[in-house]
Amino acid sequence: MKALVLSRLSGLDALAVQNVPEPTLKAGQTLVRVRAGGLNFADLMTTMGGYPGTPAPPLVVGREFAGVEISGVNDTSGRRVMGYAQWAAFAEKTAAYSNMVWTIPDHWTDEQAAAFPVNYFTAYLGYWQAGMTPQPASESGAPSLSRSSRQGGAFDSAKSGRTPRVLIHAVAGGVGTAAVQIGQLLGVDMYGTSSSDEKLARVKELGLHHGINYKQHDYEEVVKNLTHGEGVDAVFEMLGGEHTAKSTRCLRDFGRVIQYGTATGKSPKLDLRAMYAKSASVQGLWLTYLSQKREIMEPAWQQLSEWIRQGKLTPQIGQVFPLDRAVEGYKLLELGKNYGKVVLQIE
Ligand SMILES: NC(=O)c1ccc[n+]([C@@H]2O[C@H](COP(=O)([O-])OP(=O)(O)OC[C@H]3O[C@@H](n4cnc5c(N)ncnc54)[C@H](OP(=O)(O)O)[C@@H]3O)[C@@H](O)[C@H]2O)c1
Repeated sequence: MKALVLSRLSGLDALAVQNVPEPTLKAGQTLVRVRAGGLNFADLMTTMGGYPGTPAPPLVVGREFAGVEISGVNDTSGRRVMGYAQWAAFAEKTAAYSNMVWTIPDHWTDEQAAAFPVNYFTAYLGYWQAGMTPQPASESGAPSLSRSSRQGGAFDSAKSGRTPRVLIHAVAGGVGTAAVQIGQLLGVDMYGTSSSDEKLARVKELGLHHGINYKQHDYEEVVKNLTHGEGVDAVFEMLGGEHTAKSTRCLRDFGRVIQYGTATGKSPKLDLRAMYAKSASVQGLWLTYLSQKREIMEPAWQQLSEWIRQGKLTPQIGQVFPLDRAVEGYKLLELGKNYGKVVLQIE
């Protein structure tokens, strides 16, 4: 079968479509004929060996996909599914764990489905870690994740009675556009950064309230001015380096930086003084880890699938490439030129 193979950890020049053997199923896995793949920033980092846990090359790359089940553990063949995997999704066939595949909504294309799992679970769990998702069903009637005591100190809309605020970095990207759609449903006041006015204009149409072009303005200053010096309750931070400290300075009392990436390639720097000053915190979020926790993923899917059923979530696809032009998609992410998700057509 055809697959996108990374032959060494040297960057995009090491990517090529090759013929490889079909996957063999492990216990709990289902075989999927892949039609589309969702490209993630993690795929770009993988090409340089910059993503934790990358197996030794050569390896078939790709973390998420949409397609049709060929043989399922419960005889689910023929079902259209979207799925999350760590590797080997950009191939004509992939073996996926059945708890990491979800039925594609009838009204979605394969491309839309391939753009869903990583972006929407990550964004939803960001709001969850920030304490902005609904209270457990027993308290509010809405399905949601119950928050453990470890979430204490984050924003609690039920108790505060005010509108929560979030600053979303790379707001026009894959996770960013998902965070805007979810934030609108959660009633969050959203601030977002991007390098481009054009991208910001598109995200505003999705519901972003305040767009900040960081090439032209200092986002710390803008947030301070727009919030009358108060700051935001949470920052979705995926840049790393000095931006972790800078984002902490954008927080209001008891605010939380949700650190879920390091797109600058630099280790996050902390500003402990800013953390002390406002009892603020920096908390990590890694979908690879959280996806292993059924008690977290199932309620998240329950809420996300309900919104999908109501037609309230629409994955944003900026660019689509056939598999043999995948490198062009990777380059868009590298240059920060993508809008929303870059999708690869596999079939
Ligand atoms: N922890 C997790 O579980 C998890 C899950 C998913 C994604 N992530 C992380 O979240 C971030 C976004 O991922 P994504 O797949 O949705 O990508 P993306 O946001 O669609 O693309 C990256 C965007 O980041 C912005 N950017 C800012 N500084 C950049 C830089 N130095 N280099 C490249 N891009 C830069 C660019 O947008 P502007 O030009 O508009 O600023 C670019 O379009 C990545 O850091 C990724 O590793 C983490």
